[in-house]
Amino acid sequence: MKKNMEKNSMFKKLVLTSAALMALSVPSANASESKGVHEIVDVPFSFEGPLGTYDKASLQRGLMVYRQVCSACHSLKRVAYRNLEALGYTPDQIKTIAGDVTVMDGPNDEGEMFERPGRPSDRFKSPFANDKAAAAGNGGAVPPDLSLITKARHNGADYVYSILTGYAEAPHGVVIAEGKHYNKAMDGNVIAMAPPLSDGAVSYEDGTPQIVSQYAKDVATFLTWAAEPELEHRKQMGVKVILFLCVFAGIMYAVKRQIWKKVH
Ligand code: HEC
Repeated sequence: MKKNMEKNSMFKKLVLTSAALMALSVPSANASESKGVHEIVDVPFSFEGPLGTYDKASLQRGLMVYRQVCSACHSLKRVAYRNLEALGYTPDQIKTIAGDVTVMDGPNDEGEMFERPGRPSDRFKSPFANDKAAAAGNGGAVPPDLSLITKARHNGADYVYSILTGYAEAPHGVVIAEGKHYNKAMDGNVIAMAPPLSDGAVSYEDGTPQIVSQYAKDVATFLTWAAEPELEHRKQMGVKVILFLCVFAGIMYAVKRQIWKKVH
């Protein structure tokens, strides 16, 4: 009896603590609302859900968007060209993609640095030599490396999509400083990145619509892969584990029945 009461009061404490925590979190939600809209669109991506996989065509298009647009400002330091095999490219195609950039290597036997075409084993080339140069080229704001951006932000793929499609006229009375832009998804609604995409900016060869929302979806898919190349493997493993557990539970049930058969 006493034990039960103890349990009851423990339960009450738990309920009270969680209620208090919830009450605490509500004002902060309001506070961020009062700063402006924070509009994150929920995009249906193929890699969502327990059985989700990457759409290879979308990954390839996303790579195009990254290479032709984003790579002018954002690095992708954790991805090597040879990793692109996962997107369905052959080693020869990857050699061509890597060979498109010129990288600084060295020192050679004479102690000098030299330039050479990129190789599949190189990481994606960064647009700026260092953060200072990046800031100087972008009005003081450093374009962040995009290798892990979808993991670093809540609902990362939706976030990237929403930033890219979230540019709008600033609402009446909101003043945006020179070189900054109003964006519905950005925290505080002000971003230093000029709208990087426009309809028709990247030519797709597979007939996919060449519009901003499509570019945004493809590049968000590509960046999710960059941050989580093992996502498909992880999900398949999860399914296997669940299957195994089901079979295992069945076996254990049969064993239990066998053992207790004679006891009545
Ligand atoms: C002309 C340079 C430039 C180009 C091109 C560009 N960006 Fe940016 N981007 C920036 C800068 C600068 C910032 C930092 C903005 C800030 O802090 O206000 C930024 C910020 C971002 C952010 C927000 C990061 C955060 O902190 O939450 C995302 C996401 C992003 N860029 C994605 C992209 C993608 C995807 C592309 C290609 C479609 C792209 N950018 C093209 C300069 C650029």
